[in-house]
Amino acid sequence: MLNIGVMVSGSGTNLQAILNRIDDGMLKHCCVATVVGSKEGIYALERAEKKGIPATVISRKSFQSMGEYDKALIAHMKKYDVKLVVLAGFLSLLGDGFVKTYENAIINIHPSLIPSFCGKGYYGIVPHQKALEYGVKITGATVQFVELEYDSGPIILQKPIAVLPDDTPETLQKRVMEQAEWTILPEAIRLFSEGRLKVDGRKVIISEAKEM
Ligand code: GAR
Repeated sequence: MLNIGVMVSGSGTNLQAILNRIDDGMLKHCCVATVVGSKEGIYALERAEKKGIPATVISRKSFQSMGEYDKALIAHMKKYDVKLVVLAGFLSLLGDGFVKTYENAIINIHPSLIPSFCGKGYYGIVPHQKALEYGVKITGATVQFVELEYDSGPIILQKPIAVLPDDTPETLQKRVMEQAEWTILPEAIRLFSEGRLKVDGRKVIISEAKEM
């Protein structure tokens, strides 16, 4: 069984997509062991509680230093024997200690085709606003391993989505979520759980599924 720790800051639709894929059997041998929120009152935590998953808030603001925050996060993940950390709309910065402890075992979903519309400040609706302002015809979503710099790690999966002439940031965000994020995040988790992801420098090599 692969124990997953999901970190969230918002409504948790990506968390829900993971839970649905566990329920329907697409994510075999995977379990969300804990959900960690960056702040109180977010709907993602309610989704976890409804499923009986231990959910808690570990807020950067409650710690004097990044080092202490890291230590608390590591202790929490170890307590639940977490082997894969999934940032599912998690908007706090993580520290060196945590990222090194879970090297190549933290994945993040981002609502654009990285390296476009990413980096500091590009979260939630912003990548969609910027994509529309720039006039791109294609955007999408990316799942990547997490490194210390924002949105800089090796890319696991990407899915393109066409921008339509009458799109608003909201309609584009909805389509990117429904048609890209909720598909490629569970898919990346499945590949990780099957031991099929190997990081080679900047590249992620995905191996073929083993014969059953
Ligand atoms: C998602 O669109 C996710 O890609 C984005 O936040 C949203 C969270 O929604 N993440 C980022 O922008 C990270 N840079 P959710 O809480 O409904 O899953």
